[in-house]
Amino acid sequence: MSAAMLPRFWTVIPAAGIGSRMRSDRPKQYLQLAGKTVIEHTLACFLSHPQLQGLVVSLAGDDPYWSDLRCANDPRIQRANGGSERADSVLAGLHRLSELGARDEEWVLVHDAARPNLSRDDLDRLLAELVDDPIGGLLAVPARDTLKRAGGNGRVLKTIDRSVIWQAFTPQMFRLGALRDALAGALEAGAAVTDEASALEWAGHSPRLIEGRTDNLKITRPEDLQWLEQRWRS
Ligand code: CTP
Ligand code: MG
Repeated sequence: MSAAMLPRFWTVIPAAGIGSRMRSDRPKQYLQLAGKTVIEHTLACFLSHPQLQGLVVSLAGDDPYWSDLRCANDPRIQRANGGSERADSVLAGLHRLSELGARDEEWVLVHDAARPNLSRDDLDRLLAELVDDPIGGLLAVPARDTLKRAGGNGRVLKTIDRSVIWQAFTPQMFRLGALRDALAGALEAGAAVTDEASALEWAGHSPRLIEGRTDNLKITRPEDLQWLEQRWRS
């Protein structure tokens, strides 16, 4: 599909987490990777896309790092106040998009600040595959290893059928109004919402799985950052 046929879209980048599993001196989105911070790499893939209408980053209220970045003054980037859970941060970003003029039926892509290796090909495939979808969907990767269900004692209870298991990545692409209502409803009901798709599922929908690259990894532990650093250096 040519770029001209891709839909226009808005973006929310949740970046209000503290990165506890990284155990570093600052949230992982502000760690250095190949000469820039992680979040600057993440933002670059969206800011260079001709179909982007606008972008919101959701930041912690006491974030001392963002204002030092060159992109803090980029007029295409607006800020929202993140919340205590990722879903709260995303919801705040969606409200900010509405203030900026985004309409309920328009597409929003939500992408983790801590996922700096999104390829332009994956982003374009997601947009192309979902442009006519009634619900939307997400980049995901089929499970590759044999999967075990563990018992309480650290021993295998059973082996799980891998063929139906996918790992959910981001971006996740839904219509603004449907996503906002699903997230607000799921949070209100106390449902577990670890990604946007799970909110849509809670609302009774079946988001589409779009197979993406395995190297669109979310930096979670120190070795993830080391792996990316080595890969980008070679
Ligand atoms: N995030 C957010 N608001 C929160 C929690 C997370 O905006 N209250 C963001 C993170 O900044 C990250 C993305 O959501 O970009 C994915 O979350 P995760 O990988 O869990 O990051 P952290 O919560 O920061 O890390 P950890 O769970 O290890 O503390
Ligand atoms: Mg977290």
